[in-house]
Amino acid sequence: MKERRGAPLKHNVIRSKMKKGYPLMTDPILSSHFPDTDWFQESSLRKMLRNHTAVYIKPDVGRKGNGVIRLKRLNRYEHEISHGETTIICPSKKLYSELTKMLNPKKNYLVQQGIDLATYRKRPFDVRVVLQKPLNTWRATLMSAKIAPNESSVVTNVAKGAKDLNVYKAINGIDQSVNRPEVLRDLLDVSHQIAQKLDSVFPLRILGLDMGIDKKGKVWFIEANTKPDNVGLENIDRKLYRKYRAAKKWMRKG
Ligand SMILES: Nc1ncnc2c1ncn2[C@@H]1O[C@H](COP(=O)(O)OP(=O)(O)OP(=O)(O)O)[C@@H](O)[C@H]1O
Ligand SMILES: [Mg+2]
Repeated sequence: MKERRGAPLKHNVIRSKMKKGYPLMTDPILSSHFPDTDWFQESSLRKMLRNHTAVYIKPDVGRKGNGVIRLKRLNRYEHEISHGETTIICPSKKLYSELTKMLNPKKNYLVQQGIDLATYRKRPFDVRVVLQKPLNTWRATLMSAKIAPNESSVVTNVAKGAKDLNVYKAINGIDQSVNRPEVLRDLLDVSHQIAQKLDSVFPLRILGLDMGIDKKGKVWFIEANTKPDNVGLENIDRKLYRKYRAAKKWMRKG
């Protein structure tokens, strides 16, 4: 039987992390997988640092891990600021003014609860989950773990030296004691829910989610790319890559 097609399916490219994140952070179920997030300003920064051991600052519109900063409270008087390969210790009183010097004045920034990412051979990683909607249902068609280049890396972007690894290998090899089948199930379940939620707000056909797994095995949303770059993933899991290519073909037809 021939497939009946309705109106062509739409896809939106959304660049603002706050715009994409808002429907998720206000969703009664998904909000528990969304790190505490606010616009960066002195009051929100102080509040985040009171509530979380690590805090990330990142551009609302950014790519490839550029401009991402991690903060850690060392004690009442000092904080650690890490970006790229650099770490400095900053007196707490000067923290906000030091940070604003490091930020691009033309950009808006978010301040976000830092997720204590699970490690593989001591290196933190996150998971890229690509979902596609070739017709009416979302399918997870590609998955890969991005393993940071070293123990103290701030970001896990391939553009910043992270290596792609088969996701099953990464989850099986997590250094911490976590319930591995449950982590994998949650990863897929939460990713599907995120795709459905965002699609209901923006109309989408493809999403590349950056998903974090913390050291206790909890799954977290980090970022949704509406124009994911899937270069280099064909060798990570050939079977999944075929699924991705097949869905892409359908999407071109639609
Ligand atoms: N809240 C967080 N907790 C822990 N790690 C984080 C957090 N936010 C970002 N990171 C790390 O920084 C990396 C880059 O962050 P993010 O994906 O949000 O921005 P980006 O990669 O610059 O943007 P895009 O994904 O649109 O290219 C993540 O892959 C992750 O390794
Ligand atoms: Mg990213």
